Amino acid sequence: MVRQAIVAGNWKMHGTRAENQQLLQTINDGLAAVTASQVLVFPTYVYIQQVAELITEMNSPIGLGGQNLSEHAKGAYTGEISAAMLKDLECSHVLVGHSERRSLYHESNQLVASKFIAASEAGLTPVFCVGESLAERESGRTMDIVFRQIDAVLDIAGMTGLCKGIIAYEPVWAIGTGVTASPQQAQDVHHEIRSHLAELDEQLANEMQILYGGSVNATNATELFAMEDIDGGLIGGAALKADDFLKICIAAG
Ligand code: PGA
Repeated sequence: MVRQAIVAGNWKMHGTRAENQQLLQTINDGLAAVTASQVLVFPTYVYIQQVAELITEMNSPIGLGGQNLSEHAKGAYTGEISAAMLKDLECSHVLVGHSERRSLYHESNQLVASKFIAASEAGLTPVFCVGESLAERESGRTMDIVFRQIDAVLDIAGMTGLCKGIIAYEPVWAIGTGVTASPQQAQDVHHEIRSHLAELDEQLANEMQILYGGSVNATNATELFAMEDIDGGLIGGAALKADDFLKICIAAG
């Protein structure tokens, strides 16, 4: 089974209108060299409309997503953004459960699962982030933590629901640290995730796209993406440098 590779750029809380325009233009111009992989960018909320308009103007194949969303459909939730609003602004994807949301904003597995459901009910594809901290890895609890995160979504969405999303395995200790998981360390976790899902439905498990994230850069991407169960990457820091991001896209095939 050949799964399409995805390279997703998480811009986090970075960018200005001028920087976004420059970054997107350079990525788009370079993308002619990349045919097979799906390329997505995740700007901060306030720039989604700008980026959506640029994508249209450039007639670009780049897809667009939000970095977070509310678990509620609408109502008195000051400061929140709904799935329908993201959809209205041409987003096709949304990150849920990024480790920065989990740790800095105390998002529980249950809240992340509710956001996953809110996203997929609105027709967005959730990019569902999971991963362990360094202490959890060192105490041998990596798969326990990752399975708990995944099972929280499985419990309410079921296997068919989960498979409407994409999983991004991002070990917390590798995010923004410059310390990437080795290709084998990442592959081992991806393989365990796929085997866990295969217990429920082998075909869906084989089709599931599982991205790796955490200090992916232009130098290490090729080796990571060559691993059998790694279907592309969720890129933070290197997604803000057009040349590096393009090299990562090319590495994904
Ligand atoms: P990084 O971030 O590539 O800067 O480690 C990845 C992420 O947070 O998605």
